[in-house]
Order: sequence, then C-alpha cells, then structure tokens
Amino acid sequence: MKTLLYILALSSVLFANVHVDADTASCKKCHPTITKEFESSMHKKSSIYDDKVHKAIWDKHPGKTKGDYKCAKCHTPNAKTQEEAHDGITCISCHTITSVEQHAKANKNIYSGEKKTFYGAEKGRETEKVVYKTTTSWWGNKTTIGSAYHDIDYTNKNFYDGKMCMGCHSHKQNAHKFSVCSTQDEGAKNLKQNCITCHMPKVDGTATTVRLSKQHAYHGFAGARVEPKMLAKYVNLSFKKGSSGFEIAVENEAPHNLMTHPLRVIQLRITHIRGNKYTNLKTHTFVKVIGKDGKPSMPWVATEVVKDTMIKANEKRVIPYDAKLESGDKLEVVLGYYVVNPKVLKKLNLHNDKELTKFTILKSQYFNID
Ligand code: HEC
Ligand code: HEC
Ligand code: HEC
Ligand code: HEC
Ligand code: HEC
Repeated sequence: MKTLLYILALSSVLFANVHVDADTASCKKCHPTITKEFESSMHKKSSIYDDKVHKAIWDKHPGKTKGDYKCAKCHTPNAKTQEEAHDGITCISCHTITSVEQHAKANKNIYSGEKKTFYGAEKGRETEKVVYKTTTSWWGNKTTIGSAYHDIDYTNKNFYDGKMCMGCHSHKQNAHKFSVCSTQDEGAKNLKQNCITCHMPKVDGTATTVRLSKQHAYHGFAGARVEPKMLAKYVNLSFKKGSSGFEIAVENEAPHNLMTHPLRVIQLRITHIRGNKYTNLKTHTFVKVIGKDGKPSMPWVATEVVKDTMIKANEKRVIPYDAKLESGDKLEVVLGYYVVNPKVLKKLNLHNDKELTKFTILKSQYFNID
C-alpha cells in the first residue's frame, strides 16, 4: 500500500509540471543540480547585467551610442525583450541548436525553433528520439517514458563531438575583417575528447530528479572564470636540469590556445628555495595582443596581432632559466593568469575590482633538486 501511494504521489508531481513555461525556472523543477551549476556559469552571466568585463568593453564600443547591440547574437541569443536579455544564454539557447553554419565574420547557429523538443547526448542512445508517453496498467498505475515536460532528440551528432559550441566560439571578425578571437575547430571533431568532455565533464549527482543517474554533465562550464581547477589536469609542468641552469616546460593539452580571449594574460612564476632563502626568478608572460600600427587597441579598431607569445594548441613550451641549482634546493613553479590584462584594467575602470585584479593559479608544483 505504501508503495502504491508513493507511486501515485510521484506521478501527480510529474503531471503538475506539464504546463510550465519554457524558461530556466521550469527546468529547475526536474533538473535542480544542473540548473544550479548553470546559474554559476559564464553562460548564464554573459549579459552586460552580470558580466562586468563584457559591460566595460561594451560601454566603450562605438555601437553603444547607436543602440546597436550586435553582441546579442552570442551573449544573449534568445532575448527578444530587454528583460530576457538579463538571462544571458539559456538552457534553450543550447538545447535547440540544430547545426552551425560556417561564415567568415562569425559562424551562425541554426535553431530548431522547437520549444519542447531538446537535443541531448547519451552514450548508447544515439539513434533515439524520445516522445513522452504514459501507459496505464490495469490497476491504474501510471508509468512514464521520457520527460513529462519535453521530448528529447538524441540523434544530433553535434551534441557528441562539440560542434554545437562552434556557432559562438569559433571566431569573430571585426569590421576590418580582422579576426579578434578564435578557437580552433580541432577540439570539436572527435567523440573521445572535445569541448564537451573537457568543459562539461561528468560529475556526481543525478541529471534529473525523475530518472536517477549517478552522474551528469557539469553545467558550470569550467573555464578561466569558473572552476579553472577542473581543467588543471590538461596542463602539465615539468622540470629538466641542464649544465648551466634548468628548463621548465609547460605543456598545453587543450586543442586551442591556452587562453583564447585577447584580454587574458598568463604568467609563469618561479621561486627558488634554498634553506630558508626564497628568491623570485624572472616572471614569463604569455599573451596575444591585438592592435593597430604596432600598438594595442580595442578589438573593433584592431587590424593586426601586435604580440603573440601565447602558448598554442597542444604546444609544449620550454623556458630556460640560468639560475644555478644545488642538491637540496627546491623550486616552486606556478602557472596562473589575469582575466583582464592589468595594463587595460584602468582604461576599463575595473582597477578596483577584487575578482578581476587577482592572479588566479591554474597549476602549481614543487620540484626537489637532488
Ligand atoms: C560570434 C559570437 C560572439 C559575438 C558576436 C560577441 N562575442 Fe564576446 N565572447 C564570445 C565568446 C564565445 C566568449 C568567450 C570566449 C573566450 O573566453 O575566449 C566571449 C567573451 C567576451 C568577453 C570576455 C568576458 C570575460 O569573461 O572576461 C568580452 C569582454 C566580450 N566577449 C565582449 C563582447 C562585446 C562587447 C561584443 C559585441 C560588441 C561581443 N563580445 C560579441 C562570443 C561572441
Ligand atoms: C517534468 C520534469 C521535467 C522538466 C520540467 C524538464 N525536464 Fe528535461 N528531462 C526530464 C527527464 C525525466 C529526462 C530524462 C529522460 C530519459 O532519460 O529518458 C529529461 C532529459 C532532458 C535532456 C536530455 C538529457 C540527455 O540525456 O542528454 C535535456 C537536454 C533536458 N531534459 C532539458 C530540459 C530543459 C532545457 C528544461 C527546461 C526548459 C527541462 N529539461 C525541463 C524531465 C524534465
Ligand atoms: C583537452 C581538454 C580541452 C578541450 C578538448 C577543449 N578545451 Fe577549452 N580549455 C582547456 C583548458 C586546459 C583551458 C585553460 C584553463 C582555463 O581557462 O581555466 C581551456 C580554456 C577554454 C576557454 C576559456 C579561455 C579564455 O581565454 O577565457 C574557453 C572559452 C574554451 N576553453 C572553450 C573551448 C571550446 C569551445 C572547445 C572545443 C572546440 C574546447 N575549449 C576544447 C581544455 C580543453
Ligand atoms: C552552452 C550550452 C548548454 C547550455 C546553456 C545548457 N546545456 Fe544542457 N547540455 C549541453 C550539452 C552539450 C549536453 C550533452 C553533454 C553530454 O551528455 O555529454 C548537455 C546535457 C544536458 C543534460 C543531460 C545530462 C546528462 O549528463 O545526462 C540535461 C538534463 C541538460 N543538459 C539540461 C540543461 C538545463 C536544464 C540547462 C539550463 C539550466 C542546460 N542544460 C543548459 C549543453 C548546454
Ligand atoms: C549561444 C552562444 C554560445 C554557445 C552555443 C556556447 N557558448 Fe560558451 N560562451 C559564450 C559566451 C558569449 C561566453 C562568454 C560569456 C562572458 O564571459 O561574458 C562563453 C564562455 C564560455 C567559457 C568560458 C567560461 C569562463 O569561465 O571563462 C567556456 C569554457 C565555454 N563558454 C564553453 C562552451 C562549451 C563547451 C560550449 C558547447 C557545449 C559552449 N561554450 C557553447 C557563448 C556560447
């Protein structure tokens, strides 16, 4: 009897949800963990209302005075009203991308236009389209298949190899046909390792409260601003002793530049420890600076790459140091970054912002000299 009551209660919970709106709040009812992660992500916070950096750049953009918010295409793709623009990128923005069209200026997402059929990816179900169904047994018990709120299409290949990320992430040219940022599509080709497997790794917790699973795809989208630690394992530091000093190698396993946005600055900092004496060795900086006439500029003015020391896709960068090491010495090696180049912070009036002035450690390691 207890079981039957439980089942009945469960099915009435399911049916109570059938008529909710197509917004994030309604997804939360059956996907609470995923929704919570998503709310902390830069996808959710991609609008001028929630991303201070985006707002600061937009405030300087010539399009602002004309009220021509061209950034919407990627930063607030589904917003038809001012209010919706507060939502940034939504669950539906991604889960209705059918395919991506290639263009020189920027790629374009082709959306299905469906409000209640979402693309999904699950190993072993690649050929399934799940239409919600209930069956009633002779004693009145209801069994449900799929989701009471939406249908699911598991057949879209772009949700398995990462191509669905490339409508927004591939590249962006400015009016001078200069590409201000780009992410190689090498990372959106194979099923084993791609944008999704690295940035949305499987983490503990159920994907839905309706059908319990051990794990789900992480929806906080680990990156420079959210949970960078989750990506640290794709960056390796190594040490080699030489005759007149030593070498540190930084190996980037990502199939794109270690940082892709031109505002970022990466630094390698090394402390040489002998007994209780700490000596800071020369800091190495890795950047890709864009600009005009040999000087850095805002992205809409840029026509050239002014400086490019960025660690490239799958590169192992070896950096020589001439400090003499002795047995018993230690090296503390730290690889980290600034989200916004400290030289640009003041221009953007962000120099008093705690989060943005902080140096974030991506990876650190000790090496003992023997
Ligand atoms: C073609 C899609 C696209 C368009 C159009 C676009 N962006 Fe972006 N933008 C992105 C993506 C993708 C990222 C994250 C990529 C990265 O970090 O490399 C991003 C990141 C940013 C960032 C960095 C934010 C941070 O987290 O620090 C700024 C600033 C920014 N965009 C400003 C703008 C402005 C201003 C416009 C409009 C004038 C614009 N973008 C238009 C795709 C786009
Ligand atoms: C009434 C509960 C309910 C609501 C509300 C709901 N879902 Fe679901 N959703 C489910 C269930 C149950 C499944 C799993 C179905 C299965 O495994 O057969 C699911 C699966 C999914 C999947 C596919 C998962 C995969 O394996 O790839 C996506 C994508 C999805 N939901 C997105 C959404 C979005 C976006 C919203 C809000 C607009 C939403 N859901 C609202 C119950 C719900
Ligand atoms: C092998 C794992 C791996 C794959 C595959 C991968 N990335 Fe990354 N990604 C990284 C690492 C490592 C970083 C740097 C650490 C960080 O930003 O926290 C990074 C950083 C990023 C950032 C933030 C960079 C910035 O400057 O703000 C974006 C955006 C990004 N990746 C998008 C993508 C996209 C889109 C794809 C697919 C084309 C992809 N990544 C494929 C590992 C990966
Ligand atoms: C930036 C694009 C993007 C956004 C935004 C996004 N998703 Fe997803 N989601 C994906 C991709 C890609 C997958 C497939 C990952 C996998 O299973 O490997 C996925 C998988 C899922 C799954 C299945 C997870 C699993 O591990 O079985 C559910 C459920 C889901 N999404 C719901 C949502 C909900 C709810 C939101 C909003 C709160 C949302 N998604 C926002 C891209 C996105
Ligand atoms: C509708 C456009 C769009 C799609 C689709 C999209 N992104 Fe993004 N993504 C953005 C924008 C815009 C930003 C920058 C937001 C900001 O910082 O203001 C961003 C930021 C990121 C970041 C950086 C987060 C950080 O902490 O720095 C990562 C990582 C990322 N996206 C991964 C992905 C992956 C993986 C996919 C595919 C599953 C994907 N994105 C699909 C537009 C998109």
